[in-house]
Amino acid sequence: MKRFIQSLLSPGIGAAGTTQILTTLLAALTLSACASNQSDATLYDDLGGQTTIDRIADEFIMEIAYDDRVFPRFADSNVQRFREKIIQHFCMIANGPCVYTGDSMVRTHAGMNISEAEFNAVVEDLIAAMDTVGVEIGTQNRLLARLATLRPQIAGI
Ligand code: HEM
Repeated sequence: MKRFIQSLLSPGIGAAGTTQILTTLLAALTLSACASNQSDATLYDDLGGQTTIDRIADEFIMEIAYDDRVFPRFADSNVQRFREKIIQHFCMIANGPCVYTGDSMVRTHAGMNISEAEFNAVVEDLIAAMDTVGVEIGTQNRLLARLATLRPQIAGI
């Protein structure tokens, strides 16, 4: 799958930030209650719209492909389907004009028994992807805070 991905995407490895993750998780605890507030409704635009979300997804897939902590989980997955669905999902989460046509987070991840460490690793991969694309930290944290609320639907189930 790595070679397949490499042929599709340009390489881009960003630095993962443990401190940022901790900050984000704390922020998620305090911000989750207002995750759908109108004041945060422009996240899609602040991320840079569809073009940037597409680039984030491409870099995210690259990061996962090079991440031995989680890549084995994705080894048998259809990368083109994953790309399409994750783009729709990020767009929807950011209040963008998208319809998510994939499976629910519970249905997708149920039975995988994904650990907290694996969840955090994927979050690190996403942070690295957003760093590579140049998403501002505050904007990154707004997306991560929304995704953090999905943790119970993804990890440990
Ligand atoms: C914020 C965290 C996460 C989000 C938002 C997320 C979202 C998604 C989405 C949208 C899909 C596509 C669903 C579909 O095809 O209908 C997917 C698939 C998948 N996810 Fe996640 N995911 C997250 C974390 C994780 C983690 C931590 C793992 C494992 C370490 C994981 C493993 C997978 C795998 C293996 C698939 C492909 C399943 C298949 O091939 O059918 N995900 N995820």
